[in-house]
Amino acid sequence: MGPEDLAKILKNLPSQQREEILVGLETPDDAAVYQLDEHTALVHTVDFFTPIVDDPYTFGQIAATNALSDIYAMGGRPLTAMNILCYPCKLGTEVAVEILKGGNDKVKEAGAMVVGGHTVEDEEPKFGLAVTGIVDPGLILIAGGARPGDVLLLTKPLGTGVMATALKAEFIGEDEMAETIRGMTTLNRVASELALELKASACTDVTGFGLLGHLLNMVSHHLTCILRVSDIPFYPGVREMASQGMLPAGARNNRLYYEKNVIYPDDLDALTIDLLWDPQTSGGLLIALPPESEERALKFLKAKNPCGGYLIGYFTERRSAPIEISI
Ligand code: CO
Ligand code: CO
Repeated sequence: MGPEDLAKILKNLPSQQREEILVGLETPDDAAVYQLDEHTALVHTVDFFTPIVDDPYTFGQIAATNALSDIYAMGGRPLTAMNILCYPCKLGTEVAVEILKGGNDKVKEAGAMVVGGHTVEDEEPKFGLAVTGIVDPGLILIAGGARPGDVLLLTKPLGTGVMATALKAEFIGEDEMAETIRGMTTLNRVASELALELKASACTDVTGFGLLGHLLNMVSHHLTCILRVSDIPFYPGVREMASQGMLPAGARNNRLYYEKNVIYPDDLDALTIDLLWDPQTSGGLLIALPPESEERALKFLKAKNPCGGYLIGYFTERRSAPIEISI
């Protein structure tokens, strides 16, 4: 669902305040946090979607990696997961088995366990998981904690929406998006460990609202984030596919809803602007850190994170807009 429709729905829900709910509906974070005692809080999240690749095992892996991501974005450790599978039974049971195996393997890699699930017969397959994790209430990472002077790191390249659109339109085969698939099946675990170890001031993951949409959740009213567009990484083939018109509808929705908050340089090309709004599946983490941690963070990510680490901007006191883009 686009950001505008979602905002309309959420604003009509009654607000629920309770002391134990450390992160709930009022904040832009995608996971909820419920405090059990002084040292333990539960982290809850759910995510599912239609296939974005043809191979069912790979789809299962991507869906699980994506569902686990919101636990990592909060600094949590996943414990248990429940499958959500909507499925046309005419596809036969083997395909469903492959999807669930892919999901199960990623949950296992995360050190968690699939402990149940629910199926619904449906015209189009959909798969994902509800994941429960734990976090130390004193160490929760939230989207809105960045401070002036912090640097901004991104832990995966962008462009999964463009590549999935190109695959669907049969402009490319799955082998031509191997790097993108590798990225979408890479857990955000290492990135989350880094954010915890270096005491990140803010963290979120990049998913459906694109880089700029999710970044806006990190930019509180007294801050501006300056992005250096030449430092923003894209998966191989993304620019070429976008130039051939393979931009998903979600990118347009994101741009329409959020663009008033962004200032572009005059000479920024239209293609790059589009790409900054591309909705991501299983995207990386955006991490805000004090500048003195920058070098250590990049070294850590380059050594341990399969998708690397990228310094893409920094935060300052508020200028004329929440996000300003420089070349
Ligand atoms: Co998220
Ligand atoms: Co989500």
